[in-house]
Amino acid sequence: MTLTQRLTGHLKNPALFFDLASVPHLSATSGAGRFAVHNPSTGELLAELPDMETADVAVAIDRADAARACWAGLTARERSDALWQWHQLILEHSDDLAAILTAEMGKPLAEAKSEIAHAAAYLQWYAEEANRIYGETISAPSKDRRMLVIKQPIGVVGAITPWNFPASMVARKISPALAAGCTVVLKPAEQTPLVAGAMFALARLAGFPDGVLNLVYASEGDGVGRELCANPKVRKISFTGSTEVGRLLMRQCSGQIKKVSFELGGNAPFIVFDDADVDAAVEGAIQAKFRNAGQTCVSANRLYVHSSVHDVFAEKFAELVQALRVGDGFEADVAIGPLIDIHALRKIEAHVSDAVLKGATIRCGGNRIGQSGTFFEPTVITGVISTMQIAQEETFGPLAPIIRFDDPDEVVRAANDTIYGLAAYFYASNLKRVWRVAEALEYGMVGINTGRMSSEAAPFGGLKQSGIGREGSRHGLEDYLEMKYLCMGGL
Ligand code: SIN
Repeated sequence: MTLTQRLTGHLKNPALFFDLASVPHLSATSGAGRFAVHNPSTGELLAELPDMETADVAVAIDRADAARACWAGLTARERSDALWQWHQLILEHSDDLAAILTAEMGKPLAEAKSEIAHAAAYLQWYAEEANRIYGETISAPSKDRRMLVIKQPIGVVGAITPWNFPASMVARKISPALAAGCTVVLKPAEQTPLVAGAMFALARLAGFPDGVLNLVYASEGDGVGRELCANPKVRKISFTGSTEVGRLLMRQCSGQIKKVSFELGGNAPFIVFDDADVDAAVEGAIQAKFRNAGQTCVSANRLYVHSSVHDVFAEKFAELVQALRVGDGFEADVAIGPLIDIHALRKIEAHVSDAVLKGATIRCGGNRIGQSGTFFEPTVITGVISTMQIAQEETFGPLAPIIRFDDPDEVVRAANDTIYGLAAYFYASNLKRVWRVAEALEYGMVGINTGRMSSEAAPFGGLKQSGIGREGSRHGLEDYLEMKYLCMGGL
């Protein structure tokens, strides 16, 4: 692996992270191919990594399988201690990890630091949860029997993580798997593999035995995904990414009835009712829409605002959005970094043109910045109607479409009128309305008078075609455990 001066120049301890070639899980590459990782802000080359092939994935799976019995055989406290050590090391090196994250993904350094803290929080949470795996006893229907349930690790887990949260998604998948006693093969997104590599270097220092954590670098996900799904030694796939890829992985897993946990696409509504605190709603909408430049699965995608507060909301919101500074994530006060690539930029441009063509009004923004690069002005559009592309598809960028509404029942119906069901948000003060709307929204997560809800303590996940399973909280641990019923007779 080679790393450029541009990247190592940002780090306090480059040697620690970039001696990864000596890590056993990366040394067994069959092919001579390499792939490049670039900074999306500048286009600069950051690193060249081994482009691992199917045979390498199979080797990684074998290693994970060989380590399974040893890892599962440790006490819960021993697994907890290793997770705790890893958590401490991540905190200790958080500045370097954040710099790597900003360099490869583009998000502002402050957001990258917050993501690293969030990643560490998952490790801490599951270090604690590891000690709280309980079975149950059941009152048997006959006197000569005893019936009980034990929980056991599911086995080798194949984890595939996305580019938009390249550190916290790794921790969110791996930490419950390890706490449960599973071993892991991770394929990080090809755009952002470096922070995952750095986290693995720290895991090695934390003392995880060889084979427990295995990293696969590859320039594309298809071959790796196919092997993870087809290899019978892998008992579970955990994937965060698009619904389209989720469907493909599910088909590939069907041959072996393999367990899956998926966190997929969204089309989050953000509703501002007439009894909302408008200033709080504006603040929440900035968070829900523009965090990570709108590149989150839980980004507010459709802002429904009641007619009675529409104009004041739109004016205050556009004023704040216009003030968001766009630029390289390493520059001070930058709130919006680049988009991940040119395809993302083109999608926003297409959504803006379609909306304008169908009669919407641009309140601020609306254009790409500069001739090269992938920066786009944070944009607010009003006069949006349901037939526009922006109201139907996930934009995944800094574009906020506002839809005016009058009927509170109709807006909930419109909010639910999608194949997705990941996150929804609403602002209201009437308690009766708060309960009714919270219960009526067909989403796995509902933010009420808040624009941000992701937490290691809470079950993150969606309904409908937004996913299966939950990550975070005690529920996240259950996804990595099998339930076994024991029946003792002749007593
Ligand atoms: C996402 O999965 O895109 C959102 C992650 C988060 O909010 O933690």
